[in-house]
Amino acid sequence: MIRKIALTAALSVLALAAPFALTASETGQVALSATETSHADAQAAADQNTGHAESHVTDVAFPFEGPFGVYDRNQLQRGLQVYTEVCSACHGLKYVPIRTLGDRGGPELPTKQVRAYAANLAPVDDPDTGESRDRKAADFFPKSGDPQAPDLSLMAKARKGFSGPYGLGINQLIHGIGGPEYIYSILTDFTGKTKEQAGKTFYQNSAFPGGWIAMPPPLQNGQVEFADGSPNDVAHMAKDVSAFLMWTAEPKLDARKKTGFLAVIFLGVLAALLYLTNKKLWAPLKRKQTRL
Ligand code: HEC
Repeated sequence: MIRKIALTAALSVLALAAPFALTASETGQVALSATETSHADAQAAADQNTGHAESHVTDVAFPFEGPFGVYDRNQLQRGLQVYTEVCSACHGLKYVPIRTLGDRGGPELPTKQVRAYAANLAPVDDPDTGESRDRKAADFFPKSGDPQAPDLSLMAKARKGFSGPYGLGINQLIHGIGGPEYIYSILTDFTGKTKEQAGKTFYQNSAFPGGWIAMPPPLQNGQVEFADGSPNDVAHMAKDVSAFLMWTAEPKLDARKKTGFLAVIFLGVLAALLYLTNKKLWAPLKRKQTRL
């Protein structure tokens, strides 16, 4: 019995002493660096979190919003110019046929200009002969020149600007999905800070999830001269190019809205006719009932 108690006591003393023994065996230096690492980790996690929490997207009033909104042709032309002069150095639009630049509801360039635009782009390998030749209006825009830069054809539909609250999506009902707003915010929300990581430079951007983007700020005030003398500060150019990228992602938006509007009118008329037919069919029976 006494033996048992002694054994338990000895074990508990050992158990209690173990952590102290460990701490004692380690040098103060090691213990300190351990706490420092955990601090650094916590800080990194906090940075990451604030990056996410702060990634905010500005709501921009685009002319194509709302049930009756349509694209502004002049804005699309300006956006095309910004894309051509700035973004196309890195980003491609490989899903967009060049001829659609002349389509109704788009930038509506005259056919001659569309052909000239196509001829000015990088040559293409002919799918039939395999030989390099000038690009024609029937070809697509080139693909991204920089392998790191994503293709922008569908970017405006692939990203969302608004979400929540609590996953309900009510913000998207009010403000729209926010793809073009997201692109606008990416272009305008560079903070100017940079960091090196794994041999690459990252630029702090408060709209990009995570807070650091590999794209250098592409726009500077006054970089693009518009023929119509429109304002060419960063915010205006960003707005125009975002509208243009919305068009590349959804070129038939105008037609879709028109069809939808006609369908609603048609359903309204149909509903009225059905109601009247129903009234007429039941009229004899109903009359009898009221006479009773
Ligand atoms: C110097 C090359 C370069 C230029 C010029 C450039 N970009 Fe980028 N862009 C990149 C790279 C690289 C990435 C990938 C960044 C990443 O994933 O961190 C990127 C990413 C993006 C993204 C995607 C963000 C996401 O959610 O994945 C958008 C949108 C974008 N660029 C729009 C534009 C627009 C619009 C222009 C023209 C005004 C432009 N870029 C000009 C290199 C460039």
